[in-house]
Amino acid sequence: MIYIVRLFIIVLIAMLMHGCSQGDRASVSQPPSQGLKEIFQEDFLIGAAISKMHIEESDAEAASVIEAEFSSLTPENEMKWMYIHPGVDSFYFDVSDQYLALAEKLDMHVVGHALVWHSQLAEWVEEVKDSAEMARHFEHHINTIVSRYKGRIDSWDVVNEALNEDGSLRESHFYELMGENYLEHAFKLAAAADPSAELVYNDYNMWKPEKRAGAIRMVKRLQESGAKIDAIGMQAHWSLVGPEIEDIEASILAYAALGVKVMFTELDVTALPNPWDLEGAEVSQNFEGSPYMNPYPESLPDSMQLKLAERYEDIFRLFLKHSDKISRVTFWGVNDGHSWLNNWPIKNRVNYPLLFDRAFQRKKAYDAVTKLKRK
Ligand code: XIL
Repeated sequence: MIYIVRLFIIVLIAMLMHGCSQGDRASVSQPPSQGLKEIFQEDFLIGAAISKMHIEESDAEAASVIEAEFSSLTPENEMKWMYIHPGVDSFYFDVSDQYLALAEKLDMHVVGHALVWHSQLAEWVEEVKDSAEMARHFEHHINTIVSRYKGRIDSWDVVNEALNEDGSLRESHFYELMGENYLEHAFKLAAAADPSAELVYNDYNMWKPEKRAGAIRMVKRLQESGAKIDAIGMQAHWSLVGPEIEDIEASILAYAALGVKVMFTELDVTALPNPWDLEGAEVSQNFEGSPYMNPYPESLPDSMQLKLAERYEDIFRLFLKHSDKISRVTFWGVNDGHSWLNNWPIKNRVNYPLLFDRAFQRKKAYDAVTKLKRK
């Protein structure tokens, strides 16, 4: 009798275990949850800017989010002049080589950022005072870097931020020594060094009507000169209230009409007060530690999460409306903790500008943008 009871119990346990494993199998056979890159697959590439820490894969959680969610990578700093070409004749490729290796391992679309930029420039360049000498360094810089990664970088930010807010050309060191032709020269050198790479002009506030007009003049001049320019990168460091969707849309349409692709190359939405909105305020260290400028040091209140989600939803609704003209949308960072906006334009704040929070949890903003595709 005891034997029969024991047998019965064993059979019961076996049946229960079988049931559980069936249940597990049933859940495994459900479609795998999709990342941003799959959700927007038919629309545009979805990228992230990654820093040295990500390139070195020192954070396992970051590594898995990058792999699961994004289809394109941009190096946040490592290919900028001061890092990659720190001395007249010295190049430093260790981290950029690692970046390429990671991007290839993950089968990502690879962006190079940025060949010619007045900011984060090596100090020695600023000391060059002779035009012919500057032109030689400029050629050497572009040829060396673009040739090294020929066929491996899909898209190069060739020139970054060459325009003033009124649409005129910024009087950068390159402009002063080489004249307006430095632009055409940069695009022609890049095209010659890697004919298959997509070549991009990248800048902020590209939604502004005056800057837009200047960008259009610049692209037309480049096209007339025979230079190859494939895309306009609108950086997209935006806020909860601006720019207006209509202004962004007008720029998408105007740039696409030039026959180039449009991409949003550095998207983030600050949730913090902006010093430029304060009358007469300037970006200065005086704001450091000010509770008024750093109102959410612990966490972002729900009402603000919602605002951020709504803003992202409006932005992505526009992107989807013009997905035939937009080839890539790249976030400037992976999670809120990584964002440069924790330190710019005021140091040591706690900002919340991306779709993943500091613990890599998908935020309401993530749900808001992906919901647009699930309807
Ligand atoms: C920023 C980086 O995110 C920061 O880490 C760095 O200290 C400064 O530069 N426009 C650009 C980017 O094209 O390269 C800038 O990146 C942000 C503004």
